[in-house]
Order: sequence, then C-alpha cells, then structure tokens
Amino acid sequence: MDFSEPIDIAGLEVKNRFVMPPMVRSLASEDGSVTDAVIQHYEDRSRGQVGLIIVEAAAIAWEHRIGMKNIGIHDDRLIPGLKRLADGIKAHGARAFIQINHSGSKTHFNTRYVGPSNIPVVKHKIPEPLSLEEIYDITQKFVDATRRAMEAGFDGVEIHGAHYYLLSEFLSGYTNRRNDEYGGTTKKKAKFSVEVIRAIRRELGDYPLIFRMNGVENVENGITIDEGIEIAKIIEHAGIDVLHISCVVDSTFNPGLPPVFDKESQPDFLKDYPYDSCIPIAGKIRPHVSVPVIGVGEVRDAILVKKVERDNMCDMLGIGRGLLADPYFIQKILEGHEEDIIPWKE
Ligand SMILES: Cc1cc2nc3c(=O)[nH]c(=O)nc-3n(C[C@H](O)[C@H](O)[C@H](O)COP(=O)(O)O)c2cc1C
Repeated sequence: MDFSEPIDIAGLEVKNRFVMPPMVRSLASEDGSVTDAVIQHYEDRSRGQVGLIIVEAAAIAWEHRIGMKNIGIHDDRLIPGLKRLADGIKAHGARAFIQINHSGSKTHFNTRYVGPSNIPVVKHKIPEPLSLEEIYDITQKFVDATRRAMEAGFDGVEIHGAHYYLLSEFLSGYTNRRNDEYGGTTKKKAKFSVEVIRAIRRELGDYPLIFRMNGVENVENGITIDEGIEIAKIIEHAGIDVLHISCVVDSTFNPGLPPVFDKESQPDFLKDYPYDSCIPIAGKIRPHVSVPVIGVGEVRDAILVKKVERDNMCDMLGIGRGLLADPYFIQKILEGHEEDIIPWKE
C-alpha cells in the first residue's frame, strides 16, 4: 500500500489516501451556522494536502447535537454557510465530505436523551427507548441532512455509526437490549443503519456515502471482531461506498462508560499497534469487504505511516490529532520533511 497514491471512491478521484477524520472543534455559531473560523480550520488542512477531509459531526436534529457550537445540518437555512465550507475545502484540492450525526443519549444538553434502550453511556443520561415512529422520523432526518450536504456541494457524507451516538447505540449489544425488529441478532441491531442507507439511496441515488462504525468494542456485550466483520458486511451490502473503521477499545473518548477498560483485556491482535489504535481492526475487516476501508488511530509520525503501509491494513489512513497539531502533517510526509512535523501533545 502507498498512501501517496490516488484512489477512486464512488467515481471520485481522491488525490492521495490520507484522510482527516471528523473532529468536533466547536467553532460554529450558537445556531449551528458555519463561521469564518470553521472555514479557515478546514481550508488550512486542505492546503496541507489532505486527500479527503471529513468535516466534524454535524447535527441532523438540533436538540440532539453533541455540544456547544456544533455545526448544524438540520435546516435548509444553513446551506449557504455549508456551501462556503465545501467550496473552501475543495478550492485547495481536497475532497470534502461531512459527517452527519444524531447524538442519541450522548447529547450535551438537558433535553430528552434517546436511544435503543434505557442503558446510559454517560452517567445520569438515561435514554428513553425510541418508538418505531421516531425511528422512521430520524431516518428521514438523515436523508434530509444528506440532501443539504449535496446541495451545499459536498462530495459526499459520512454517516456516524460509531462512538455510541445513536446509530452506534443500536449496533452495540451493550446499549441495545430491544426485543423488537431493531434488537437481538446482529442483523436486527443493524436494521436502523441499513434503513438509513437505503432511504438515502432511494431519494438521492448514488451520492457518495461513507459509514463509520466501531469494529470492536472492548466492553461487556459490545461488538467483538467477529461481529464487527458481520456488521461491515451487512453495511456494505446496504449500499455504502467506503467503510471507516473506528473502535472503542479504551476510555479515551468515553470517560462515562461504566465497563472498565484495560490494556490486558484488549484482543491480542491489537497489541502490535499503539494502545487505542483502531488500525489493526480495519486490517481484520478489510479482507471481508470489497469497498475501500479507512483505518485510523494514534498515527503521529512517518514511522507508523510506513508500518501501516507495510502491514497493508487499510486502503486509506486517517490522521486526526496529528492534523490538529500540524495542518501540514501530510504535506511534510509527502515531501519527505517528516522531521519538521509539529507533534501532538496530549
Ligand atoms: C477533538 C476531537 C473531536 C472528535 N470528534 C469526532 C467527531 O465529530 N466524529 C467522529 O466520528 N470522531 C470524532 N473524533 C475521533 C477522531 O475522528 C479519531 O477517530 C480519533 O481522534 C483517533 O484518531 P487520531 O489518533 O489520529 O487522533 C474526535 C477526536 C478528537 C480528538
């Protein structure tokens, strides 16, 4: 694998295989509209030669956003701002995608927390199980958000099915304890995500779609690697163009999750990579699907980039915090100036 090479995804040429994964920055206005600061942040990374930029989780329903100053994609009035953002990213050569999200029980605000069942992932935020009507309504909200991304000129969207936000809570046996057609077997837990993908396809045709999912959850009743492979196959079959494999293998992004994570209980195949990296999980899933797979997690230098290439773990590589620390991380790798990379500090 050579991440400096171009790749074709859903008929779009991406100039290299480096991806900026979605990362909430809280730079939007209070009402969710895009600000100059948001545009500047992403334009800088596009100038820095990232091939594919996935803009941070944008709220498909405003009362279910992640946090303060979240980008919104829940209303048509936000399209002009989103268009300035997509144009700004594309002007410097990167492909522009945006992640669309319903935060489920992890919404930041004291509104109504919702989920598949009443199992919290954040202390005190006990979700109310969604009714079937509400599931259909949210499915349509994912479609409407995708249409707005399309109208704004984004090259595609990423559906957020990871990190215990709403779709992820349905996919995981830890949070999904339903007995109806949306819970129980892996296929039933994946039904909500599958219906979202199919509904988007029905209304918006072959608009490019990435799906982000947890390939492993190191949590009681969570997704094991075998189930991660099964979910990946179901999601691919539903009609997505790229799979983005994340994971929940420690508590870094889930401090409120009750199960205790520890290095010893991680599957052995993860141990050849830095603690908390999801890349080897992408490597396990990749042989079972035919769409390109994005791997991500803990890549901070050229040495690890080379190792992932050698190990043939994924088709595209996400660099998250590395790109927050240094917008020119990718350019420095591509031009052989890796010693100049400004390191991420925890
Ligand atoms: C500040 C911050 C915000 C994040 N926001 C999101 C998000 O909006 N959506 C998402 O799927 N992941 C989010 N993530 C996870 C990243 O996309 C990525 O998976 C994670 O940072 C691991 O990659 P890295 O080690 O290269 O940073 C966020 C991570 C950070 C550090």
